[in-house]
Amino acid sequence: MTTTAPIDYLVRPTGALCGDIRVPGDKSISHRSLMLAAIAEGRTRIRNLLRGEDVLATMAALRSMGVRIDDRDPQPSKGERGRDDIDEIVVHGIGDRSLSPPRSGVLDLGNSGTSMRLLAGLLCARIDRPCSLTGDPSLSRRPMRRITDPLSSMGAKIEPSPSGTPPIRLEPIAGDPFQARLRAIDFSGDVVSAQVKSAILLAGLRARGTTCYTEPGPSRDHTERMLAAFGAPPSQEGLRTCIEGGIGLRGTVIDVPGDLSSAAFFLAAAAGRPGSDIIVRGVGINPTRSGVLSILEGMGARIERHDIRGSGGEPVADLRVRGTRLQGIDIDPASVPLAIDEFPAIFVAAAAARGCTRVRGAKELRIKESDRIAAVADALFALRIEVEVFDDGMAITGGEIAGGSVDSASDHRIAMAFATAGIGEGSLRIRDCRHVATSFPGFVALAGEVGLDIEVQGGDA
Ligand code: S3P
Repeated sequence: MTTTAPIDYLVRPTGALCGDIRVPGDKSISHRSLMLAAIAEGRTRIRNLLRGEDVLATMAALRSMGVRIDDRDPQPSKGERGRDDIDEIVVHGIGDRSLSPPRSGVLDLGNSGTSMRLLAGLLCARIDRPCSLTGDPSLSRRPMRRITDPLSSMGAKIEPSPSGTPPIRLEPIAGDPFQARLRAIDFSGDVVSAQVKSAILLAGLRARGTTCYTEPGPSRDHTERMLAAFGAPPSQEGLRTCIEGGIGLRGTVIDVPGDLSSAAFFLAAAAGRPGSDIIVRGVGINPTRSGVLSILEGMGARIERHDIRGSGGEPVADLRVRGTRLQGIDIDPASVPLAIDEFPAIFVAAAAARGCTRVRGAKELRIKESDRIAAVADALFALRIEVEVFDDGMAITGGEIAGGSVDSASDHRIAMAFATAGIGEGSLRIRDCRHVATSFPGFVALAGEVGLDIEVQGGDA
């Protein structure tokens, strides 16, 4: 898992950002591709899988339960593979057979909320012995009743700790694991969460009858798109999604698009620096995920979408951003779930924009890998940027970010957002950046390619 040795970033001022880059594969889609491939009949080939620690945690958990996953080492060795070469892993799906958790009974999912919540739904009617889903200190603070309550009502034997947090204890449900069946439910969620929706849909594959989930607003629909690619398309009517129990998945080929959440750091940084010109190729622009683009555009960003195409049921484009001075805006609360992971980058862009940027209706930010409202506000305060904090959001008055020292709150996205900030003078130290590897291996090197100057200090190396 993540190295325990402290890593700081030291960021020095640079000028305009320029380059033509690709970012690693999408984290959400990578998790789903492994999980669905594991329970499909036959082989699935996955290209461009993200090898971040969160996805590796999902991969390790599946392997520890008996799923064979062949992974060619993607590291380019001289003269053999260029960075445009496609790398591929092959998952040998177990079909309808049960998954056997390791004898230790522990599946350690590190920092990864997606692994924990989606696997809970996937496993609750597929395991043949008990297990506990555990995580690191950050994951161990995150709320799990939002999934354990609906899964329990389906008949799953699932229990979080008394405080509603991990570890999650799972036991096999009664009966032959081949036939173990949950009760179908018709559930309406009260938070916009793709993880809750996905956990219920994945459990619904093992229910008798049709399981439906109605969300209070649109959340990312990667699970639905990927279920269709595996031959089990859910039906959809507005915000209500239904899945038939008992449909078997068939192995397929998945091309994972570049992760818009990773691209967002460079897009936001370039958008606000006059003279910048960056192209990020092959990025997923699924409309349930691309709120960051419209929010930045609302702030005046110049973003072009080129060569829009499909990849594994997901829309993909090459994104070009040319820098300008951004303008603060009131962000529409309806767009918050569509950009939920990009707020650290948006907040840092707002700190350099003209005027005030305000977001409300974003309480979910408080229960991500860190309390992202508190963590960003503390960091901006330390950098003498004017911030007003609300229970469900923040108002930031743009200024000039001078050097100083901020804490990432052990949160990969806070670390990367500040690492890509435009700094007027001095240097910016970002403490505790070791979690960047959970979602963006190679971040510092790629940042260097577009002209950022980030020195890594500490760590195991
Ligand atoms: C994710 C959904 C979002 C997001 C997370 C990944 C997913 O979480 O913040 O990083 O892959 O389904 P919520 O479902 O809690 O909104």
